[in-house]
Amino acid sequence: MTFNFDLTHLERFAGSSTSIRRPRECTYFSYDDNHVLKPLSTESLACYYPPIFGAPGAQEVRPDLSAGFKTFRQRDDSIDEHLDGLLDTLQAHEESLLEKARDGEGELVDVRVKADVITWRGMMTKILTVAFDDFSDFEMNATSFQGTIFVEERHAYKAAQQRTQNAQQPRRGEASQEMMQYWGYKFEAISVIPKQWAEMTREEIESREVQTVSNHVQYCSIVRTGFGTTSLVVAGEVDCVMSEKPENPDQPIPWVELKTSAEPGNLSNPREAVKYERKLMRYWAQSFLLGVPKIMVGYRTQDGFLTRIAELETQRIPAQVKRGQHTWDGNICINLTSAFLEFLRRTIGDEEGVWRIRRRRNGRVIEMTKTEAGGTGNVLKECFKRHRETLRGLEISAAL
Ligand code: A3P
Ligand code: MG
Ligand code: MG
Repeated sequence: MTFNFDLTHLERFAGSSTSIRRPRECTYFSYDDNHVLKPLSTESLACYYPPIFGAPGAQEVRPDLSAGFKTFRQRDDSIDEHLDGLLDTLQAHEESLLEKARDGEGELVDVRVKADVITWRGMMTKILTVAFDDFSDFEMNATSFQGTIFVEERHAYKAAQQRTQNAQQPRRGEASQEMMQYWGYKFEAISVIPKQWAEMTREEIESREVQTVSNHVQYCSIVRTGFGTTSLVVAGEVDCVMSEKPENPDQPIPWVELKTSAEPGNLSNPREAVKYERKLMRYWAQSFLLGVPKIMVGYRTQDGFLTRIAELETQRIPAQVKRGQHTWDGNICINLTSAFLEFLRRTIGDEEGVWRIRRRRNGRVIEMTKTEAGGTGNVLKECFKRHRETLRGLEISAAL
């Protein structure tokens, strides 16, 4: 059984965007320096502090993003983590709500974080940009459980994709894929501090430049959001916060996304402008989904020296592109995503089993095929399902 979602005739999706809900953080988790999961912990949340380009008055120094490449502690991503960090955190969050309710601080109600779709932000970024990114190809697995569709990346596919990418020979004068990837993490390392500004000494701040770069540590935000008729819970890494999280949970959080980029060519040259807009689309989609308002772009030379920092406002990016080459359209991205999510829900319904979602390079469709796997396959871990069954049992008994 295969069903196709058509990616042509994009004019269908033009016009103002359907209702979207502002993403609101509902819970969060950290991975520590050994990539051990810490549900409900902010320990890996960092603060933005711009990279230092040399002491005032002294000669400007361009930070070298290659520094320390040999000692990079890179996480082993050969293990398929499915949705585990997200599910473990939802479980811990719901258990703590239940505890509070039992202690009489709240009513004994259904504490399940309910949504039509629960997934990683990365999956939503791929859907949001699919119409304007001919080169993007992906595979995901989706399964329905208790009225929610859970979507994960198909790990084997992603791993093969990365192997191909890393095997590519760099063009003459270009750094290797590994090196460029390192620049991204190095830029993060010299753009954040682990505590509030006021709690840091100058020496502590400067010591970031010589610390070993590792990509084990992460802070991930789990947000509730929505596209059209579909409610979503989306989880993804946020790089840092501008100063701190506001105490009032209704206030938007001043998250900051960090990106490195080669200095763009001359943007009055349409070819360069098109390349630049494609990059802006990825930045916008990724940040928009979690409600990250600001993107700090660290521009670099071809050989990895940081030249300057540019600040982008996420919500202004679509209008900027509209005024430029208009190679993509934010409203179309959003409306197409709403339509795709409805298609996904219609296709899967409440049926058990696992569906494969697939898009090929230059593909004109997103394909959904039912796989052979029964139940929820490997998408959901057993302990999460048991936990949710228990909560549903409680809800039923409370209603009696
Ligand atoms: P840059 O984005 O500055 O290149 P993120 O920007 O999502 O916070 O990711 C941080 C860094 O992880 C990236 O820095 C890049 O080095 C690396 N990275 C993220 N996604 C990647 C991908 N699909 N392939 C290779 N490297 C990736
Ligand atoms: Mg990141
Ligand atoms: Mg980043």
